[in-house]
Amino acid sequence: MNDALYDDIAEWYDKYLHENPLYYDIVLPCLLKLIGDVQDQIVCDLACGQGWFARELARRRATVTGIDIADRLLALARQYEDREPQGIVYQQDDAQSASSLPNASFDGVVSVLALMDIPDLQAVFQTARRILKSGGWLVFAITHPCFEVPHAQWLTTDNDQITRAVRGYFSEGNWKSEQGGVRSRVGAHHRTLSTYLNALATANFALERMMEPIATGKRAEQVPGNREVPSLLLVRAHAL
Ligand SMILES: C[S@@+](CC[C@H](N)C(=O)[O-])C[C@H]1O[C@@H](n2cnc3c(N)ncnc32)[C@H](O)[C@@H]1O
Repeated sequence: MNDALYDDIAEWYDKYLHENPLYYDIVLPCLLKLIGDVQDQIVCDLACGQGWFARELARRRATVTGIDIADRLLALARQYEDREPQGIVYQQDDAQSASSLPNASFDGVVSVLALMDIPDLQAVFQTARRILKSGGWLVFAITHPCFEVPHAQWLTTDNDQITRAVRGYFSEGNWKSEQGGVRSRVGAHHRTLSTYLNALATANFALERMMEPIATGKRAEQVPGNREVPSLLLVRAHAL
């Protein structure tokens, strides 16, 4: 997985994000619930993309730095910032090291739908721990590692029940979806749930809360199965 992948689809991703109810109708309220009040906090959006969530944080009076590896997504983020200046600083950096960011300098770190794009999960959590002040929060959203699995598919039973069929859960590694969307363009690193949680603990984080949102509204119309089975997992932890 590398930066060029998102550089190639930057404009497409920007449009997709605005048209897909997943981001603003499902992910946004969950993130805000997990993060809470950010007024006067210093927050880093790791792998911020075109900065949609960095802007939501800044609107709520956080001081925000966004880092991402993809030039063209950062260029879009800066265009949004020019149009509606909120003092967000965007830097090109690798979330696996974030060498441009000093130690213990953030109250909170968020990473939205990006850990699946980054090969070294442990390095990202370690980076988050390094740049956080002690007690600082980490919130991340990922595609659900138990159900958004290579080869998973929706099946409808004879009595019209929607079912998620999963196989290959234990085979970690890079895969590409054949069902459209972001993951058919850039792929994803599949990892088990225990890999995520063990990496978090190894990086000296304590788990506080998780959310597995049910689909509602337009998202539920788009993917009815997500009323039964979640497509997302969100986690809040704090730095020990
Ligand atoms: C699905 S996008 C999510 C972007 C943004 N957080 C959002 O919610 O729209 C995944 C992001 O991860 C970024 N990314 C991939 N590898 C990275 C790395 N090693 N360091 C920083 N960003 C990375 C990509 O450039 C892309 O912006």
